[in-house]
Amino acid sequence: MEKTIRPIKRIIEPQHVMEGAGVLLRRSFGPNRTNLYDPFLLFDHFAFNDPKEGPIAGFPTHPHRGIETVTYMLEGNVRHRDSIGNAGIIGPGDVQWMTSGRGILHEEMPTRSPDGNIYGFQLWVNLPAAQKMSQPRYQEIKATDIPFVDDGGARFRIVAGEHLGVHGPVTQIAAQPLYMDITLQPGVELNLPVPRGHSAIAYLFEGAASFEQAPAGEGSLLPAIRMVIFDDGDAAYAQAGADGARFMLMSGAPFREPIFPYGPFVMNTREEIEQTLSDLRNGVFVQTEMAS
Ligand code: FE2
Repeated sequence: MEKTIRPIKRIIEPQHVMEGAGVLLRRSFGPNRTNLYDPFLLFDHFAFNDPKEGPIAGFPTHPHRGIETVTYMLEGNVRHRDSIGNAGIIGPGDVQWMTSGRGILHEEMPTRSPDGNIYGFQLWVNLPAAQKMSQPRYQEIKATDIPFVDDGGARFRIVAGEHLGVHGPVTQIAAQPLYMDITLQPGVELNLPVPRGHSAIAYLFEGAASFEQAPAGEGSLLPAIRMVIFDDGDAAYAQAGADGARFMLMSGAPFREPIFPYGPFVMNTREEIEQTLSDLRNGVFVQTEMAS
């Protein structure tokens, strides 16, 4: 069968929203029963300096059930601790892939870099019904343990999945994700294989790029910051503008199950959300206490 380039299905301009204890962030999409980006549920961009946020408020203790939250920091830190005994710092270039399963309580408190910056992304990935009540699990990867590969003016930093024979350190995720931080030198063109049938998304956060093949001079160059949702096909296309481009590329296998999101929980039915709230009220949401 002929290899096809994925057309652009939708372009999203992230909107500012308030979350946590008053954290201003850029949201491209959030959990919704329409589940348009299955298996992805949410993509947030912490960029506190644009516009300037006041005192950093962070995300005090809150629960999750039924999802995975993926934190990727570029500048600044997030200090975290949780109900299953984990505590640590997610620093520049680090990744935390948190599988909440049946439930965790955690807090996520950002701090500025020496330059005063906080810059990072949080992605929520769905869990299939059969794994929503699994044991919570963490994969914490330091920046130095995330491999990269250079190819013709492109650098690929691979968090999960495989590209050019290089495998990301995050493994055994139900959605079979590819998650990469891609930097393109000026004008560099890319055909990136993405499994057919998987959802694929690019999040352009530096420079400018075109994500559709077009006759010379007719390509639609998008400026950062934009999210591009690709339609189906064998490969995603990108060409950097005159100043280069940097974007996150994510793809994953859709679960095609109904979802019922409620705040930090994403289950399949309303009854499961009611059970979740009842578990919280009755003190059986998690079995252990917060790490000190
Ligand atoms: Fe959280």
